[in-house]
Amino acid sequence: MAEDLNIQKGTKQEQYESLIPQIEGLLHGEPNLIANLANISAALKEQFNFWWVGFYWVQDTELVLGPFQGPVACTRIKKGRGVCGGAWENGTTLIVEDVEKFPGHIACSSASKSEIVVPVYFGETIVGVLDVDSEHLAHFDETDKLFLEKIVGLIPNN
Ligand code: SME
Repeated sequence: MAEDLNIQKGTKQEQYESLIPQIEGLLHGEPNLIANLANISAALKEQFNFWWVGFYWVQDTELVLGPFQGPVACTRIKKGRGVCGGAWENGTTLIVEDVEKFPGHIACSSASKSEIVVPVYFGETIVGVLDVDSEHLAHFDETDKLFLEKIVGLIPNN
């Protein structure tokens, strides 16, 4: 496995299409969950330079901070709280164009302006969420949803 990421220029779609096989390569043959979540966060950060990108993982009634790239963040989020807890409760991806207009948004950083949260399913069960924050308003769209959902679907379930 090559450890250097090949950074793609071009449209958002082209960037994701170049990144996905590289993430598959990073995950290939590696069963350790923390290692895989760490490398997915790093790969997304390197390609897109997102303000904050990482995982919260389900533990009982809360999400607990997992591997991420970016500024320090809050460690625990209750089900239904904030964008992350909302995506967990609803079981669907949430795109928030302006976090200040999202009731209950948890501001880990005042620089964060928009956000996408993608639930991670192992089978029928949500085991965590991928959270990506941007310092720009309305940064995320259906293209991000499509490809980030594909990326979390690559996480080995073991
Ligand atoms: N803003 C998130 C909390 C996590 S941080 O952004 C890293 C939310 O409202 O769920």
